[in-house]
Amino acid sequence: MRLIAANWKMHKTVSETEEYIRAFLRLVEHPESREILICPPFTSLYVAGKLLEGSGVKLGAQNCHHEEKGAFTGEVSIPMLKEVGCEYVIVGHSERRHLFCEDDELINRKLVACLEEGIRPILCVGEKLEDREAGMTFKVIETQIKLALSGIEKYTDSLDIAYEPVWAIGTGVLATPEDAVSVHRFIKELLKKLNPENGGKTRILYGGSVKPTNAGEFMKHSEVEGFLVGGASLEPETFAKIVYSF
Ligand code: 13P
Repeated sequence: MRLIAANWKMHKTVSETEEYIRAFLRLVEHPESREILICPPFTSLYVAGKLLEGSGVKLGAQNCHHEEKGAFTGEVSIPMLKEVGCEYVIVGHSERRHLFCEDDELINRKLVACLEEGIRPILCVGEKLEDREAGMTFKVIETQIKLALSGIEKYTDSLDIAYEPVWAIGTGVLATPEDAVSVHRFIKELLKKLNPENGGKTRILYGGSVKPTNAGEFMKHSEVEGFLVGGASLEPETFAKIVYSF
């Protein structure tokens, strides 16, 4: 089943979250044929979890710490996320990598912790514009995935991967569906090599300037197994249109 995920990033207070979720739930009456996920900021998770209970729409976090507890000022652990109802967590988003210096080793530790604690990670990968221009797209993606999955290759069916070309995030510059499909195919083949038994089961999502006007074109391709949506997920009506774009 395809996964359509909203990454709100650093948007929405608790009251704005309540208003959004009440409105959104009125728009998604029959979500059975797709999985829908909302990832609000930490402060909104509890209230969002309460409102989403029983709706079929799932809750996720945008980040986590890999330790269960301890002296890590400002961090949030996976048990904390699970208790407020999170079933998913985004790991290694390009903004975490580039603005908060997360490296592949840290991302690997977070993924290991997610699998141990039983929360489903969405691993984000993507090349920068200079990588693409240098013809390095596949090499960059391969390195990110191999390092992130180091030691946990056998468990790739317990996670999803979002391909988010950095140059397409929040820029309005869209990868063409063909660009995305070729990278998605490459990722699938790589996962099958890393995990011959069930590497094919990992869903590959696309993210980067997805809007209601372009979502349908991407979804014509079976390789696009979902979306991770930023800006266009901030209005319930707009996000609902993306959810029902296929
Ligand atoms: P935009 O949809 O705003 O380009 O953001 C994409 C993204 O980073 C989702 O995680």
